[in-house]
Amino acid sequence: MLLKNTSTRFGHISVLIHWLVALAVYGIFALGLWMVTLSYYDTWYHRAPELHKSIGIFIFMVMVIRVIWRFISPPPKPLASYSLFTRISSKLAHFTLYVVLFGILASGYLISTADGESISVFGWFELPATLTGQGIQADTAGVIHLYLAWIVVVLSLLHGLAALKHHFIDRDTTLKRMFGFNSDIK
Ligand code: HEM
Repeated sequence: MLLKNTSTRFGHISVLIHWLVALAVYGIFALGLWMVTLSYYDTWYHRAPELHKSIGIFIFMVMVIRVIWRFISPPPKPLASYSLFTRISSKLAHFTLYVVLFGILASGYLISTADGESISVFGWFELPATLTGQGIQADTAGVIHLYLAWIVVVLSLLHGLAALKHHFIDRDTTLKRMFGFNSDIK
């Protein structure tokens, strides 16, 4: 088991966090779209938003660990075969994914706590409200939250398509590396 990244490999911690967050992001997005269609008498009317908020805070905690871990264990070098365009666009896409994800999590927190109520995270602990009292807080944060959620989903799908292009067309090790393999494997 390789915990830390090396210059040619993603370690298992980075791999685990990448796929855990990807799965959680698509799951929480679907849950978010579904929960706003529920009526008051639906059994999931209260439970779905509670779950959505809990998963959101969980993703936030994992993302904070991910950023710290990125400093402790920087990602491997780009493959030698990458063009300048690939190098720049991938860096830009990864950076945008990080920023937009944090934007979604922050706006979600501001929607949920706009009325001064804390967030219960899976019933394990309560996250207190901080910024409250402004009438338009929930509405403004809600619009930002929805737009950013669509941006992260579309951008991550393009990013996933780029990874599949590397795998099936360029036949390089970009995707295999995200499963913990060495860059040199064929
Ligand atoms: C919500 C979904 C996703 C998010 C938020 C996401 C985010 C990221 C980020 C931030 C990185 C850069 C890691 C770093 O250098 O710190 C990355 C790398 C990577 N992702 Fe994703 N990703 C998602 C989904 C996917 C999917 C669906 C695929 C493949 C089908 C994929 C394949 C890859 C690969 C291969 C890399 C490594 C690229 C390299 O070596 O430079 N990702 N991802």
